Amino acid sequence: MHRTHIIYVQDGYFMDHKTKSSRAPLYEALLAYRDSKQRSFHVPGHKNGQAYRYLVEEAESEKPPVKDIVEEEHQHNGEIQNGAGGIVNQRVEQFRFSSIDEHGADMESGKRFGGEGNQSEIELVPVRSFLEMMEMDVTEITGTDDLHHPEGVIQEAQELAADCFGAEESFFLVGGSTAGNLSLLLTVCDEPSSIVLVQRNIHKSVIHGLMLAGARAVFLEPWVDPASGLAVMPSVETVQAAVQSYPEAKGVLVTLPNYYGMGADLTPIAKLCHDAGMPLLVDEAHGAHYGQHPELPVSALSCGADGVVQSTHKMLTAFTMGAMLHIQGPRLNRSLLRQRLAMVQSSSPSYPVMASLDLARRLLHVQGANTFTAGLAAVDAFKRGLAELPRFQLLQPAQPLQQEPPAGTAKPAGMSVSAAQQTREGLTAAAIPSVAGYTAQDPFKAVIYDGTGVLSGYGLQQQLEACGCVPEMSDERYVVLLFSLGSTVLDAQHLLQALHHISSTNGHEQIHSSTEPSQQLAKGSAHYISTWNNLQENTRFSEPISFTLQPIVETDTINVPIEESAGCRSAEMVVPYPPGIPLVYPGERLSPSMVARIILLRDEGAKFHGVSDASLQSLKVMKD
Ligand SMILES: Cc1ncc(COP(=O)(O)O)c(C=O)c1O
Repeated sequence: MHRTHIIYVQDGYFMDHKTKSSRAPLYEALLAYRDSKQRSFHVPGHKNGQAYRYLVEEAESEKPPVKDIVEEEHQHNGEIQNGAGGIVNQRVEQFRFSSIDEHGADMESGKRFGGEGNQSEIELVPVRSFLEMMEMDVTEITGTDDLHHPEGVIQEAQELAADCFGAEESFFLVGGSTAGNLSLLLTVCDEPSSIVLVQRNIHKSVIHGLMLAGARAVFLEPWVDPASGLAVMPSVETVQAAVQSYPEAKGVLVTLPNYYGMGADLTPIAKLCHDAGMPLLVDEAHGAHYGQHPELPVSALSCGADGVVQSTHKMLTAFTMGAMLHIQGPRLNRSLLRQRLAMVQSSSPSYPVMASLDLARRLLHVQGANTFTAGLAAVDAFKRGLAELPRFQLLQPAQPLQQEPPAGTAKPAGMSVSAAQQTREGLTAAAIPSVAGYTAQDPFKAVIYDGTGVLSGYGLQQQLEACGCVPEMSDERYVVLLFSLGSTVLDAQHLLQALHHISSTNGHEQIHSSTEPSQQLAKGSAHYISTWNNLQENTRFSEPISFTLQPIVETDTINVPIEESAGCRSAEMVVPYPPGIPLVYPGERLSPSMVARIILLRDEGAKFHGVSDASLQSLKVMKD
């Protein structure tokens, strides 16, 4: 007999025949915990926010609720519509404090809680929405499972994530992709001085992983897109040459997509790694959404990667620090990986962060490709509007790779990634260009630049911010505008209005008067040299460079004029900043092209971290 199950979920939904993927077991456990009103005799010490509740209720009983004040403020100044959200918010914040200050009652309540009644004590009262978050900030108690030994709701949530993202096993990360990169390197480098083949332009968490593992890195030079001058992942040929030269390497690590959303097909690289018996590790921090919509590039997992790290908080909807590590295949030692994860992650991981991962997965799992419809419509609106602004150009691959099955065979909402992967594998052999370069662009990363060369990326970012639009980042030439599934057409319109304004009014005068050296870099494109690129021309890969936690002994080093440093082993890290991607590592032998590049950047006015002589007239090198 068929029975209809009506399941009551604490957040107020009634669901008929709730399917497995539409559950969010961890999130639901937190709601159940909140509603159970149990008395806490365990950590956290705020006791579900109880430590603050009295203060908040006192303050609220004597004052109109803060929400009303803010709403009144919005109605009063009407400026919330002007796009300068940051400024308005700041003003609202000021208003809050000043209005509370003016009322003696609040000052008194401050006194009642043992203070002198000054401004800083009033700030001790958190807003109610923060208190509400604390009601779900639980820890490992009966029913909430344990991240490091999951057998309940966390295990279930991770299994659902694996299903959604096409992995054999997924691990929730509460320390961002940083924790994933550290654990992967600590897993594959299972003995001192293990060799790993690592793309040179990588995030610092990879460097820290190499240091912790005491590994030796052979740095693979990235492929540089000639049109934009930006570095993407290493070419297939580079990886192949390095794999052949270092067959003992424990694995290959690449980053895809890069910060600009640029990438290419990973399938041939995965294949050659596997033919050599090596795992392919992919830092896919910026691609948690990949493979989830026909217009998005394919995911690293579907290309065959063995271990993939994704910052779910960057391009999907998790709280900041929420990330995932996905695993497939037999090449990674999973029990060692579990141990490494326990080493680098807190024994008290944040439940709100983990539950936000569960929710991010559920949104995707239930809605499938439709999750991105509104966000992609916002990007399309922006790109259409941008096409009418001749001053600003959009970064795009010259030869885009057909990323997904042709129209009609696109992955429908809810279709598992592994099914999409099979379709994809059928396509791959015919579609791969001989050299993997820049063939895929994340549509959610709109990378723009001033085609007149007048505004540098930094200058354009400044002007956009003055108009209330805050970009993700900029460099000497480009501004990265990050859209996501949460973006709206209204956002796109604000941005277009801002660009219209910049294009038609004050851009030229302001920039001509600027003396910012980095802005000079943008002017002559022949000399364009992005600090995001740290390639060493003329080599495919470096010699093995040892990483260690042991600091270099001062007496083993000597300062030499930078012009005379070629051939020496550097005793310091040379890091152009921004963005902070190291150009040279301690222990790395300086090639003439490296030295020339440092001198060029120095003369162009770039700033450097990591060096003892910030003017870079000299460099500290090893005495040998
Ligand atoms: C390529 C890359 N990998 C890893 C990370 C670290 O990610 P998270 O901030 O999630 O720890 C970042 C952060 O920006 C990144 O850009």
